[in-house]
This record gives sequence, structure tokens and C-alpha cells, in this order.
Amino acid sequence: MQDEVLYRESFPILGNDYEHGGEVATKVKSILKELGISSTIIRRLSIANFEAEMNLVMYADEGRLEFTVGPREIEVIVADRGKGIPDIEQAMQEGYSTATAEMRARGFGAGMGLPNIKRNADRFDITSTPGIGTTLRYAVSLTMPAASETQ
Ligand SMILES: Nc1ncnc2c1ncn2[C@@H]1O[C@H](COP(=O)(O)OP(=O)(O)O)[C@@H](O)[C@H]1O
Ligand SMILES: [Mg+2]
Repeated sequence: MQDEVLYRESFPILGNDYEHGGEVATKVKSILKELGISSTIIRRLSIANFEAEMNLVMYADEGRLEFTVGPREIEVIVADRGKGIPDIEQAMQEGYSTATAEMRARGFGAGMGLPNIKRNADRFDITSTPGIGTTLRYAVSLTMPAASETQ
């Protein structure tokens, strides 16, 4: 839970909009830079945001990415209206992908997006209702060092 909001912004994302796909992640990255957030945190969030944004472009109709900077963490919520995910456990498996031949031709479909979001976040939650849509909630802590930096 965010106890205090230092900065919050929300961006719309359109399904099938490959032309602009990735722009929200890029915009958020430059805002975080301006806010003086550390490069390690920006890198982890940007990987997660790009994967979440492209999943929305590829697999959903429309939605939003909202990020909130609090004193303790940066939280991101990516919520879409779309077909949803029937089996989340399966979707979370490394290498699992329902990407079409066209998506694979664009370089997507490695099935590493959701696992990468989880790996780069300090907390991660996904809920989905088939026929309704999907919501990802993840956050990177501003107060504890990343696991890779502790040794
Ligand atoms: N927002 C979403 N809406 C519907 N299905 C999704 C969404 N995000 C992911 N999925 C499903 O989960 C699968 C795994 O996603 P991901 O790990 O990012 O791999 P990839 O994008 O390479 O297919 C996708 O192939 C798709 O079936
Ligand atoms: Mg993906």
C-alpha cells in the first residue's frame, strides 16, 4: 500500500497498436530519470513496463499503465479490457506463448515477458477474468537493495 503519493501518472495503451507499442515504457523511464530515481530501479521497472505494455498491445483490446511513486516503492498497475488469461499458472511458465506467426515475425513470443516482470519486481500480482481482462500489479522497492546487489 502506498502511504503517500509523490508522483502518479496514467497512460492509455491501445491493443494492436504496434506503431506506438513501447512508448509508454519509454515515457515513464524519462519521468523516473527526471525524478532522480536510481538507474538500477529504472532499469528493472522499464523491463517490466515494456513487457506489460507489449502484452497489452498483443493480447488485449485497450487499457492503461499507471505508476505511482511513493516514499517506499514505485508501484505499477497495468489493467486491460480484453480476452484475459484462462490459465495464469501456464501463462507464467518460461517459454509459454500464444503469440501468432505475425507477432513472432515482429520478434515477440519468447514467452519470457510475464516471468521477466515477476523477476524484476519486488512484488508482483496478476489477476485475469476470461472475456473481461487482465490486471498486473507490481512494484520495485526504493528502500531495500535489489537481491542482485546484496552480495
Ligand atoms: N494482457 C494479456 N491479456 C491476455 N493474455 C495475455 C496477456 N499478457 C499475457 N498473456 C498471455 O500469456 C502468455 C505469456 O505471456 P509472456 O510471458 O509475456 O510471453 P509472450 O508475450 O512472449 O507470449 C501470452 O502468450 C498470452 O497468451
Ligand atoms: Mg509478452
